[in-house]
Amino acid sequence: MRNRGTAWEAGALCVVLAARALGGMAGSAHDFTASGWSRGAGCGVCHAFHSTDAPAAGTPAWSREFSNVAYTLYTSTTLDATPGQPTHYGSKLCLSCHDGVTALDTFGGQRGSTYIHGKARIGTDLRATHPIGIIYDGALAHADRGLFDPNTKRIPTGETITNGLLFGTGNLECASCHDVHDRLGNPKLLRIRNNGSALCRTCHRM
Ligand code: HEC
Ligand code: HEC
Ligand code: HEC
Ligand code: HEC
Repeated sequence: MRNRGTAWEAGALCVVLAARALGGMAGSAHDFTASGWSRGAGCGVCHAFHSTDAPAAGTPAWSREFSNVAYTLYTSTTLDATPGQPTHYGSKLCLSCHDGVTALDTFGGQRGSTYIHGKARIGTDLRATHPIGIIYDGALAHADRGLFDPNTKRIPTGETITNGLLFGTGNLECASCHDVHDRLGNPKLLRIRNNGSALCRTCHRM
């Protein structure tokens, strides 16, 4: 996944993507049009259009506030990577709804009071969630031995893991496994269906 350069580029992309993404998003778990809290904003629940805030370089434009909490991070004695507090938008944006701290309807400069609930509420304890906020590169694969080299292993689209699932120079984030726009219509918004653990086996040699 390449970083996007300018706000203009992001805007132009939105036009292109809207044509495809509306098909995918309509009726998906992230189609909020039927929820009163979304104020009919559509893409604007997450993205800012015509915003006065310029997006940070290389990131799409957001309309959401990020949660300002300290998460309990994944830990284990066998982990080689070192998870840090989520700083990348590929996780932070998700957590701005899924941690249950920021209201769903806090966007576009307005504060709301409707919180995520049920199984979709991940909370702030990330120990039960796959590690995120880690760099998955050739060196990690080499150290771990149970991981494929992300620069050479291909995913079903033909891209390498690095280009197809990771952000920037190898960030593994929530959006590495989930397509927030549900373009493929897979269960749980997954980028790769997990039948026979196919998603897990994309990266793990098992
Ligand atoms: C639930 C939140 C959410 C909604 C709703 C949403 N997006 Fe996104 N969008 C994201 C996140 C998170 C990313 C960054 C992660 C990624 O690219 O997978 C992103 C990235 C993007 C990007 C840049 C990266 C790419 O995939 O090309 C574009 C363009 C975009 N969205 C357009 C749209 C459009 C158009 C809509 C409405 C049809 C929409 N989004 C609705 C959350 C959302
Ligand atoms: C604007 C708030 C918001 C943002 C931002 C957001 N989500 Fe969600 N997401 C929701 C809500 C609300 C639901 C539950 C929908 C329901 O229960 O019908 C949901 C459901 C899901 C589901 C369950 C889908 C299913 O089929 O059961 C997954 C997986 C998910 N989100 C992942 C993500 C990821 C990953 C990101 C970031 C890339 C993200 N979400 C960003 C609000 C959000
Ligand atoms: C390594 C891949 C991977 C990463 C990273 C990941 N998930 Fe998931 N997630 C999955 C899979 C696979 C499932 C489906 C599990 C199942 O069906 O039992 C899932 C399920 C979910 C669900 C639905 C829960 C339910 O029971 O309906 C939500 C919401 C979700 N993830 C959000 C997130 C968020 C937010 C992050 C980042 C903090 C994240 N995921 C990171 C693979 C991942
Ligand atoms: C995009 C690549 C990718 C995908 C897809 C993926 N993983 Fe991982 N996984 C990693 C990386 C990288 C690590 C960090 C390994 C390390 O540092 O030891 C990791 C770590 C883990 C760990 C923690 C290992 C430990 O030593 O504590 C578990 C458990 C795990 N993954 C299970 C899964 C499962 C189950 C799935 C499928 C739902 C999955 N992974 C999908 C890349 C991936």
